[in-house]
Amino acid sequence: MAATIKTPEEIEKMRVAGKLASEVLNMIGEHVVKGVTTEQLDKICHDYIVNVQGGIPAPLNYGNPPFPKSICTSVNHVICHGIPGDKKLKDGDILNIDVTVIKDGYHGDTSKMFVVGKPSILAERLIRVTQECLYKGIELVKPGARLGDIGHVIETYAHKHNYSVVQEYCGHGIGAVFHEDPQVVHYGKPNTGEELVPGMCFTIEPMINAGKRYSKILPDNWTVVTKDRSLSAQWEHTLLVTETGVEILTHRDDETIDRIINHS
Ligand code: MF3
Ligand code: CO
Ligand code: CO
Repeated sequence: MAATIKTPEEIEKMRVAGKLASEVLNMIGEHVVKGVTTEQLDKICHDYIVNVQGGIPAPLNYGNPPFPKSICTSVNHVICHGIPGDKKLKDGDILNIDVTVIKDGYHGDTSKMFVVGKPSILAERLIRVTQECLYKGIELVKPGARLGDIGHVIETYAHKHNYSVVQEYCGHGIGAVFHEDPQVVHYGKPNTGEELVPGMCFTIEPMINAGKRYSKILPDNWTVVTKDRSLSAQWEHTLLVTETGVEILTHRDDETIDRIINHS
């Protein structure tokens, strides 16, 4: 099935949902400190989404088995879908917090990396290169570009830094449905894959490992970890393809990329 094209009314709702998701990441930053548990971070985000934003945390009860929490917290060698729990964060931990807010029936999905105290130089570099992978992908988004172009630039940049790209999980179309077509893989060949059209909304969310690309799922049926226990990083944005380029629906003010990129 091909991607859905959003109407102007739907696009406005995607803007609202995207902004709310980005605001959750802004809000939670000061709480990510040594000694806090990811369960506490989950509760703060849950209450903020529900009580302040009037939204719904999409992960809660999503899928089968139902995801038990409202955000994903993926620490160190966890690639994605980490379940918030009672383990305390410690100095040097790195973690991805992935937030998806539903507002007025539409989804905004975004994640960023946080560090606790002082991370290693290696961890810092992995985090930076992974964000650059996301940005390089976003910079290619415009009508006529193809999904393989995006995957290719991400894969090439990761490999140049001797990192690997997780293949089992990918970006996705998004709208009234959390995960819809197309699949946006973070590897590929230029000039292949679906062609981008104005009004498409999808995520790019590269998962980059310091070691090998292979992953496994823990017995909780959600937590995805690197097989070799190497560190993993991820960043995610929800995007709208415009007539001239891209609008980052989950953009935050602390970023070095513009919210709107106009290629004409
Ligand atoms: N937010 C994740 C994504 O980027 C999906 C999480 S599904 C959950 O697609 F159930 F684990 F929350
Ligand atoms: Co996503
Ligand atoms: Co997400």
